[in-house]
Amino acid sequence: MSTYKAACMPGDGIGSEIITEGRKVLDAAGEKFGFDIDWTEYDTGAEKYLKTGELISEDDLKELKKFPAIYFGAIGDPRVKTGILEKGILLTMRFYFDQYINLRPIKLLHGVETPLANKKPEDIDFVVVRENTEDFYVGIGSRVKAGKQHDSLEVLRDLYSVKFGIDVDSDADELAYQIGVVSRQGSKRVMEYAFRMAESRKKKLTSVDKANVLTDVYGLWRDVFEETKKGFPDVTTEYNFVDAVTMWFVKNPEWFDVVVTPNMFGDIITDLGAMIQGGLGLAPGGNINPKGTSMFEPIHGSAPKYKGMNVANPLATIWAGSLMLDTLGEKEAAASVVRSIEHSILAKAVTKDMGGSMRTSDIGDWIVKDVLRG
Ligand code: IPM
Ligand code: MN
Repeated sequence: MSTYKAACMPGDGIGSEIITEGRKVLDAAGEKFGFDIDWTEYDTGAEKYLKTGELISEDDLKELKKFPAIYFGAIGDPRVKTGILEKGILLTMRFYFDQYINLRPIKLLHGVETPLANKKPEDIDFVVVRENTEDFYVGIGSRVKAGKQHDSLEVLRDLYSVKFGIDVDSDADELAYQIGVVSRQGSKRVMEYAFRMAESRKKKLTSVDKANVLTDVYGLWRDVFEETKKGFPDVTTEYNFVDAVTMWFVKNPEWFDVVVTPNMFGDIITDLGAMIQGGLGLAPGGNINPKGTSMFEPIHGSAPKYKGMNVANPLATIWAGSLMLDTLGEKEAAASVVRSIEHSILAKAVTKDMGGSMRTSDIGDWIVKDVLRG
């Protein structure tokens, strides 16, 4: 029997409640399909930060690197200034582990209501592959008051490092700038992953960018897409601008199979995707390094208002757990978890936000039984 080592990081707010349900389900899937998950829990998040001033230590990161998978709850707390936990924990991990793929399935399960009129599960079934280490997320920029200033900005990655030395001479009262970085290798690796995924599905790949305005960063992105597609002759390709794609996601979601996009647009369009598949309560994500440590999380936040009330919807987290099993190679178990999520919805065994009356912990119990029944 295989044993997988996995780290678990509940985080803030409802994090620990939803992760508890997710773990129950994944352990049940292990029982059913013959594997074991050896969990190690890590304490990160607002509580620890407020007590010790520490977000995530270098030692923790080094240790976590030994795990193939991290199961992550949520971060965010009203007592901590916005951006601190997001950058200091979530983005730090995505970059440190070089999780260059952010995989976000947009799939309408049977029994779920979509706000799109007349669209059915067969119409909404695609995957967004979001680049996860570059673009405007590299975190370099500066705020400048009138006058002269020199800024030295640096990005360190596994693939490369880059330094920008910038002389600013401005007579504006105050201004700010932020640099987006797109690299050839960084684009190529995520595109190859997306092409391979398209090959295994309906063989269509859409690149989403804004190459008509941000001609340098997304011009390079397109050049690499043109080169990469030569290696995948069976895949039909197209380009969509990001503004237009928000229209098509709503009007014709059935057009899409796999969508590959730079980091920031991927962030934005996957919230739209979440909504058309039934809301943030049903939207999972995987931060994947195919040869390293991957991390799985619900797309939604920590909903601090609902902490400890046993009312949070754990389905996105359980689904993220299925993505984790899939990445670990337990394909059958992964599919069975999604099927059981679907069964729970069809049986109306859901939380209040989805029109049900069950509590967070009841959902996990229900799905565990369904997984075990098979
Ligand atoms: C997401 C979130 C994060 C992002 C934030 C919390 C840093 O919105 O995972 O989509 O922007 O990537
Ligand atoms: Mn987001």
